[in-house]
Amino acid sequence: MNKYSEIKEYLKNNQSSWLITGVAGFIGSNLLEELLNLNQKVVGVDNFETGYQRNIDAAISDSTNDNAATLFTLIEGDIRDFDTCKKACNGVNYVLHQAALGSVPRSIDNPVNTNSVNIDGYLNMLVAAKEAKVRRFVYAASSSTYGDHPDLPKVEDKIGNPLSPYAVTKLVNELYADVFSKTYGFNTIGLRYFNIFGKRQDPNGAYAAVIPKWVSAIMNSQEVFINGDGETSRDFCYIENTVQMNILAATTDNDNATNQVYNVALGDRTSLNDLYGLIQKELISLSLHLKEIKPTYVDFRAGDVRHSQADIYKAKSLLGYNPEFRINKGLKKSMVWYVNNLKDIV
Ligand SMILES: NC(=O)c1ccc[n+]([C@@H]2O[C@H](COP(=O)([O-])OP(=O)(O)OC[C@H]3O[C@@H](n4cnc5c(N)ncnc54)[C@H](O)[C@@H]3O)[C@@H](O)[C@H]2O)c1
Repeated sequence: MNKYSEIKEYLKNNQSSWLITGVAGFIGSNLLEELLNLNQKVVGVDNFETGYQRNIDAAISDSTNDNAATLFTLIEGDIRDFDTCKKACNGVNYVLHQAALGSVPRSIDNPVNTNSVNIDGYLNMLVAAKEAKVRRFVYAASSSTYGDHPDLPKVEDKIGNPLSPYAVTKLVNELYADVFSKTYGFNTIGLRYFNIFGKRQDPNGAYAAVIPKWVSAIMNSQEVFINGDGETSRDFCYIENTVQMNILAATTDNDNATNQVYNVALGDRTSLNDLYGLIQKELISLSLHLKEIKPTYVDFRAGDVRHSQADIYKAKSLLGYNPEFRINKGLKKSMVWYVNNLKDIV
C-alpha cells in the first residue's frame, strides 16, 4: 500500500478538523470533496471574490459520503479581516490555506489588491493559525517563485528573481513561513503548485487559466488565442495529484519533511501547441459536432516564464508523493467534466 492510501485509510477511521481557505475556489472545493470522502470535519472560509457557492455545493454532492453536508461549515468572510481568520482557526487541527488572488496578469493590472490578499491576508492566517496552535499550516505557494532562474527542471532550493507582483507575493509567503518556523517553532509546509487543472477550474473572466479558457472557446466555436509561438511549456498537473500533496503534507510525521517547500507537479513538460492539440482531440472525441479550429497566435504575455518543469524528487522522497494522473489521463477526466458542466457555468 502506498503512503497516500495508508493515510486515507487512517483518516477514514480517525476524524480531525480541517480549515480550507478559498474553499469556494477550484483547488479549495476539490480539497473539500476529498476530505468529506474521508469523513473529516471541514470549516471553509471564502469571500466569493473568484469562487462560487456552486463549487461548494458540487463538492458536497459529488462526495461519496452520505453525511457530507453535516461535516461542513462555511464562514463567509475575508482573510484580510483578522477576526475572521481567528474564528476560522478555532479548534482546527490542520489548515490548508488556498485563498489568494491568482493570475500573473491580474497582479500586473492591480498589484495593490493582489498584495493585500496574498500578503496581508496570508499573514493574518499565519498568525491566527499559530495562536490557535494548529498542528500544521499547509499553504499554496507557486512555481512563479522560480522567476528568471534558467535551470530545468526546477529544484526547490534554486530560485531566481520574481517576474511579476504575483510572484513577489508567493515568495513573501514562503519567507514568512520560514521565519515563523524559526521564530515561533510554527509548523508549515509550502506547496509550489505548477499549472494545476481539473474539474471546477473557472473558464470565465479575463484572468482564466489556459485550459478552461481554451475549452470554453473550442466548445463555443470561438477564436482560440495562444500567447507567443506556442512553444512556451509548462508542467501541467491534474487536481487529484494536488489534493494528494495537500493531504500528505498536512499529515506527515516525518520531522525532516516539515518547514519545507515542495514542487507540486508531474515532472513533465508540455508545450502550449501540444496542449492545444490534446485538448482539441479529446473534446472532438466527446462532442462529435465540434470542428477543428486553428489557433491564433498573439504576443507573448508580460511576466510569463518561458519554460517550466518541476523536479518532484523531494516530494516523492520526503512525503511519499506518488502522482497517479499523468497529463493525458487528467485531461480526459477534465474534458468529460467540462462537456457535462460547461453550459451551466459560463
Ligand atoms: N490553479 C493553479 O494552477 C495555481 C498555480 C499556482 C498557485 N495557485 C494558488 O493556489 C490557490 C488556489 O488557487 P485556485 O486556482 O483554486 O484559485 P481560485 O480563484 O479558484 O480560488 C481562490 C479562492 O480564494 C477566494 N478568495 C480570494 N480572496 C479572498 C479573500 N480576501 N478572503 C477569502 N477568500 C478569498 C476566492 O473567492 C476563491 O474561492 C491560490 O493561492 C493560488 O495562488 C494556483
